[in-house]
Amino acid sequence: MLTCYTDKTDKSIPIIVVEAENLEVWLDNQSDFLQNITASHGLKAQSGSYCLATNDLGQLHQVILVVDDWEDFWALGQLPKLLPDGVYHLANEYPDTWVSLAVIAWGLESYQYTVFKKSHDHAKQTKLVLPDQCEPNAINHAVKNSFWVRDLINTPAENLGPEELVLAARQLEEQQSADLTIISGEDLLVQRYPLIHAVGRGSARVPQLIDLRWGDTNHPMVTLVGKGVCFDSGGLDIKTAAGMLHMKKDMGGAAHVLALARWMMSVNLPVSLRVLIPAVENSISGWSYRPGDVFSSRAGLSVEIINTDAEGRLILADALAEASSDSPDLLIDFATLTGARHVALGCDLPGFYTNNDDLADELLTASQVQGDPLWRLPLYKPYRSALKSDVADLKHCSDAPVGGGSITAALFLSEFVQASIPWLHIDVGAWNHQNRPGRPKGGEAQGLRAVFELLQQRYG
Ligand code: BES
Ligand code: ZN
Ligand code: ZN
Repeated sequence: MLTCYTDKTDKSIPIIVVEAENLEVWLDNQSDFLQNITASHGLKAQSGSYCLATNDLGQLHQVILVVDDWEDFWALGQLPKLLPDGVYHLANEYPDTWVSLAVIAWGLESYQYTVFKKSHDHAKQTKLVLPDQCEPNAINHAVKNSFWVRDLINTPAENLGPEELVLAARQLEEQQSADLTIISGEDLLVQRYPLIHAVGRGSARVPQLIDLRWGDTNHPMVTLVGKGVCFDSGGLDIKTAAGMLHMKKDMGGAAHVLALARWMMSVNLPVSLRVLIPAVENSISGWSYRPGDVFSSRAGLSVEIINTDAEGRLILADALAEASSDSPDLLIDFATLTGARHVALGCDLPGFYTNNDDLADELLTASQVQGDPLWRLPLYKPYRSALKSDVADLKHCSDAPVGGGSITAALFLSEFVQASIPWLHIDVGAWNHQNRPGRPKGGEAQGLRAVFELLQQRYG
């Protein structure tokens, strides 16, 4: 069990959670003593307002926390860092859905990336007794795997290149007895992954294709594909300083599918799983690919390069073509694919695309259940004309100022997915730009719980 949770003890301090609109009535029913304490602490009817109530000996006796409503589960996530060390429990019965998500928020708050900074508050020991309503394993998997996504993203590109991403996949191979195949460097050309090779060839760190298989091949096949750009300089179409600053996160898609795979393996989900991660660095050198180049692709379509900063869709195109070749029951890719998604939906809301309306509904339900937001965007066919090329089968991105950049990226990907395969493409930011309860600044898992929920509903 994660260190932020513990088993029942006699000495734990109760946390009482009150909905904002009920606070006044609730206070009316409390002792004068408690009313005075909450008043002197300025407890307010607003989300996150809290009060450490002491007894007449001045000892911490109970904690009162205000939430907006029973959808407001992040509010509990601020407490682990605010409360004094000790063991706490949720005092009363609250709705099951709130409890399980609030407990996850508590766990997610305890994350720190400590590799290069030793002065963090390591000693902080605020533990929560897991309520009976919660399934400890489910909570642990959710938190642990989100932490893995964050760790992988937060690791600087210097320390996590394509080869280190291979090592992360090796952990799954060894711990979960999966089968791992790696194709690297020039072998990518020999084995016909021209686009992965083209994007990765400018870096001293050779490109890799990670191909992991696990599970019983008689079970339905699920294939996960993750964008593994360990650093995105933009290539010859170099990014601005501000645009490049967080680009160690551009392997966020890979981090998501690795964590999802580990989660599926740990609960022995009855599926036949395949994970494909094209892992590259988008670098600048004399051997970088260039605007105007034309490359063949694994699917056979020729592709005209417009902007070397739109590298993600190229490596995904070859990976998706390979993924399609064994007609999986479900194909899901995660990618930090476009700045346009960020403009349209902001940091917290991944956009997803699918060729299957039922799948969209399933994902939206799962997203709701898990309090893990996702927003459907359209594979709007008329925008496909922006990808027409004079010299190749298609351009990989539009060169007209027509907007809709996340949509055209998704349309480009769709050219490499067999139409009969139910496919989800998730365009994520994978980054928190500010510190909030349960969501510290830095790398973030987004849509991970929702997609796991979907998989569990389908196959569990
Ligand atoms: N990795 C970026 C997309 C990105 C940027 C994700 C910021 C999250 C935050 C991607 O490779 C990229 O640079 N895309 C370009 C495409 C454009 C050149 C057509 C973009 O979105 O600006
Ligand atoms: Zn880019
Ligand atoms: Zn990128």
